[in-house]
Amino acid sequence: MNKSNRIKTEKPIPADRAKYANAVYSLVGGKGYKCFVQTFGCQQNEADSERIAGMALEMGYSITNDPNEADLIVVNTCAVREHAEKKALSLIGQYKHCKSNKKELVIAVCGCMPSQQHRADEIKHKYPYVDFTFGTSDLYMLPELLYRRLSGAKRTFVIPEDRPPVVEDIPVVRESNYRAWVSIMYGCNNFCSYCIVPYVRGRERSRHPDAIEAEVRGLIAEGYKDITLLGQNVNSYGRGCDFNCDFADLLERLASIEGDYKLHFMTSHPKDATKKLVDVMARNEHIARQFHLPLQSGSSEILRRMNRGYTAEKYIEILDYIKEKLPDATLSTDIIVAFPGETDEDFEKTLELLSYVKYDMVFSFIYSPRNGTPAATMECVIPDDVKAERMRRLLDLQTEIADSLNAKCLGKTYRVICQGQSKNNAGMLEGRTEGNKILLFASDTAREGDYVNVKVTETHAYALYGEEVK
Ligand code: 5AD
Ligand code: SF4
Repeated sequence: MNKSNRIKTEKPIPADRAKYANAVYSLVGGKGYKCFVQTFGCQQNEADSERIAGMALEMGYSITNDPNEADLIVVNTCAVREHAEKKALSLIGQYKHCKSNKKELVIAVCGCMPSQQHRADEIKHKYPYVDFTFGTSDLYMLPELLYRRLSGAKRTFVIPEDRPPVVEDIPVVRESNYRAWVSIMYGCNNFCSYCIVPYVRGRERSRHPDAIEAEVRGLIAEGYKDITLLGQNVNSYGRGCDFNCDFADLLERLASIEGDYKLHFMTSHPKDATKKLVDVMARNEHIARQFHLPLQSGSSEILRRMNRGYTAEKYIEILDYIKEKLPDATLSTDIIVAFPGETDEDFEKTLELLSYVKYDMVFSFIYSPRNGTPAATMECVIPDDVKAERMRRLLDLQTEIADSLNAKCLGKTYRVICQGQSKNNAGMLEGRTEGNKILLFASDTAREGDYVNVKVTETHAYALYGEEVK
């Protein structure tokens, strides 16, 4: 990738971040300036946006939910599928009028989309009112980029390095006071043939376990109940590092912290998921009984062409072990439908595997070609009607499976975290079980963030209903 637009900075530079944050503060502090952060994509992006908000506060901005009253707009984008990119570009298009109404407004675009040179170029030429762009690993540069721009510097388009530093101590404003994201590593080395992530998030690098433990301890002390450890492939945590701690060791270390909380993690790569990890989960009550293990396809031939590093048989082996050791765990997966060259037989194998495993949740995506990835140039693209038909069959099958799995929850009592009023069911509160199932219930006393015991009285494929048990 062309790095000519990259600003030269010393690294790693949390101290520089603070220096530039102070410099921005001296320009905008006390003026009542506001920052609006818009987030697309995965939990990593949500976690990053909480740091963007943290830095905005540090620089003297308050946070607003209204782009029209903002003095700084940051759009944190996703590039994993074309649809996500189109949505972000359309939204950036809409912010043109904000700039026309307020000339001094600064608009920044960050995350995976502008980390691709062709998208950075597109933004530069087609969206002249965007002031600067930066990538996921350049988050800490926001104060520097903003300061330079506010001081009259030219527009900048930062393309991330392949091996960026791990920067600690970026301030954070968390959206919730009971659920928290903790990034344990960044980047990905796997280069699955369809995936843009390794190109935009750089090579794998892990945070030091001491820094992670300190963050998690702090969260538990503050009363956080649901803590999700994040990484593109958490199972390769610590690989190539000078400390001796793999993901299972890290989990066990964190799970030994005293308190009333559950640890979740995502995402696991099946090729690196170990029996050791499953054993650690089985013996630690603080680790949620939940396993998200992306399958992508049930056909070993498609898996080979996806460069996934496992066969369907190998996948089943680890999944059987999970089921044996964690029989009450909620299982979920990701499936890509209509990868180039996927035959009817390949697709049938995916359905067979779903019928065998019986996942509680399946996140399914129609294959989306990503510029610069090996799969984008593969032949045998699947016609649109076949894609749609396969997706429909997969969803029908999964609805049936989820329906029968949820039916088994009838009469059972779950300890859920109340997440406030349900958006779709007036008068009901929405809770999440340890395995992330939605459980709707009525209560006069429960507040958002409380643990509530709820007995299931009605089940559907995508939600459970119940009554509070005092
Ligand atoms: N097309 C469709 N789905 C994709 N995913 C990743 N890249 C693509 C792509 N090019 C899906 C995978 C991954 C999830 C986060 O997104 O299923 O596990
Ligand atoms: Fe993408 Fe594969 Fe890395 Fe996941 S493991 S981020 S699918 S390349």
